[in-house]
Amino acid sequence: MRVIAVAVQKGGTGKTTLAASLAVAAAESGERVVAYDLDPQGSLMGWGALRRQNGITVDRIQAWEIGQLPDILDQTSENGTTLVLIDTAGAATGATPALRAADLVLVPVRPSRLDLVAARPTLQALVGLGMRSRLALVLNQCPPPPSARTDAYAAQLRGLGVLAEPGIVQRVDHQDAVAAGLGVTEYAPQGQAAGEIRALWGWIDAKIRG
Ligand SMILES: Nc1ncnc2c1ncn2[C@@H]1O[C@H](COP(=O)(O)OP(=O)(O)O)[C@@H](O)[C@H]1O
Ligand SMILES: [Mg+2]
Repeated sequence: MRVIAVAVQKGGTGKTTLAASLAVAAAESGERVVAYDLDPQGSLMGWGALRRQNGITVDRIQAWEIGQLPDILDQTSENGTTLVLIDTAGAATGATPALRAADLVLVPVRPSRLDLVAARPTLQALVGLGMRSRLALVLNQCPPPPSARTDAYAAQLRGLGVLAEPGIVQRVDHQDAVAAGLGVTEYAPQGQAAGEIRALWGWIDAKIRG
């Protein structure tokens, strides 16, 4: 069983949006997916409650349970789950056990200086945990291409070997899909947002297959 955490100490960058659609894309590619919501705001749980589709279990892990995360993950793997996605809170205090348990920590940032600066504490925490090779930034809410700004940030992060690709463009499909309890690949399977999410899942899958 593989574990992906989505984390950055800043709200609004797209952690929950990406966790939801990646969970669906992974399930569509044959994974047995459990998504855990670590955020007290419960956005991912709310998305799960809206779902009419089967295939993904969404559950909450309360702050007081986080110390038991290794046991929770052991139990999760025993029932045949192949992939766990963990959505974390914006203020990532308390998320350390989830980061530690992850084969990959996906760090969504918008292509803006302020978002990249805001991601630093999360990246430093990951490096401090010895997880330099298990983190990847994903540029989210990118302006429609071509965008020189997106390209410049992508080149910089790619040069550092920490860029998940492709970047995800700002598209209403993401908002509409989440509102309907769907992933973008369910909401508009032929859409560009769906294509980008499938490609990002492909990148992540290859990365954590090692
Ligand atoms: N790629 C995207 N395209 C359009 N809207 C997006 C995209 N990613 C996130 N959003 C929107 O940005 C806002 C914040 O996203 P959310 O997933 O709640 O972030 P976080 O979980 O990091 O706080 C939401 O309104 C969401 O619909
Ligand atoms: Mg969120």
